[in-house]
Amino acid sequence: MTVPLFDPATPLHPLRPQIDAAIARVLDSERYVLGPEVAAFEEEFARYVGVQHAVGVANGTEAITIALRALGVGPGDEVVVPSFSFWASAEAIPPLGAVPVFCDVDPETYCVTLDSVRAAVTPKTKAIIAVHLFGNVAPVRELEEELGLPVVEDAAQAAGSLGPDGRPGALGSLATFSFYPSKNLGALGDGGAITTGDAALAERVKQLRFHGSRDKVTYEAVGYNSRLDELQAAILRVQLPHLDEWADHRRAAAVHYAEALQDSVGLPRATVGARPAWHLYVIRHPEPDALAARLRARGIECRGYYRQPIHAQPAVLAGGWAPRVPLPGTDAAAAQHLAIPISASITREQVDEVAATVRELAAAPAA
Ligand SMILES: Cc1ncc(COP(=O)(O)O)c(C=O)c1O
Repeated sequence: MTVPLFDPATPLHPLRPQIDAAIARVLDSERYVLGPEVAAFEEEFARYVGVQHAVGVANGTEAITIALRALGVGPGDEVVVPSFSFWASAEAIPPLGAVPVFCDVDPETYCVTLDSVRAAVTPKTKAIIAVHLFGNVAPVRELEEELGLPVVEDAAQAAGSLGPDGRPGALGSLATFSFYPSKNLGALGDGGAITTGDAALAERVKQLRFHGSRDKVTYEAVGYNSRLDELQAAILRVQLPHLDEWADHRRAAAVHYAEALQDSVGLPRATVGARPAWHLYVIRHPEPDALAARLRARGIECRGYYRQPIHAQPAVLAGGWAPRVPLPGTDAAAAQHLAIPISASITREQVDEVAATVRELAAAPAA
């Protein structure tokens, strides 16, 4: 049996007629940019997340840059960001002239903690990026309340997750989503969104996504051309009503994995009160690359995503943004993590096969 690491295509098969109809609707409308589909998706996505405003943008990376910009982050400011994340979480900061300051994560939840962020905060800190990594839910409310700084949630991997205080996207000052095809809610190309409960921030984000203009006549700021396409919005609207059932499927697979693997490997731990829609199911093993090679030889796809954490990347070293605090949780997670298959369409048979093979091979001595 071959088991793919993720599978964004299969859940869309039953929706094909609706997706075809949505595409035809956009073609017939002859409106391709910032039209009725984007407006409707923004309203529906905001309602789903449980927040007042959603603004479609071109991708999840620009979403972070624009969210920070809306908060007034600029040259000389510092933004605290976890080093154990996808590169884009930090990459979004330097284009503003701001400095990424790396903080640690808990190596079992893969998320920042109040203490790890506090250790990186200085008087120059203007904002914090909390990443809901792998679909787990970072303690965003606690960070804002205890530290008195605005938090941008990087919720690229967490559509469909639930936290004790609400859904990712409704927890911080602003939140950012990616609709890259492999995400829990994925477009058929690039896409992203910014959510916020603050009407003034939403207005600012809308202005920034369209060249710094509200009326396409007067340009009040140097902004971005960062828009969600009508086609992608129409396709996302077909999928959104299915997100919860897909998230439940991921959660059920994670429960089976946790039962089967608890004595074999390190398991991802949900943060307190969270019900993650695991975007990736990420175990830990002392020799993850050797384990990965053995799993692949048995047809099971797996991957270490962030073996070299952001603070060790060449562009960070060249930029002079070396970490100022020790990052032991990051180093441990980076060295040991391994994503094993999970998706909204993974079958029970596949989960059982993966779990049995991981159990067998995790215990095997290194070749
Ligand atoms: C945690 C995280 N942040 C940001 C991004 C950037 O999103 P995009 O690829 O849509 O720019 C991604 C996804 O690729 C991600 O996983």
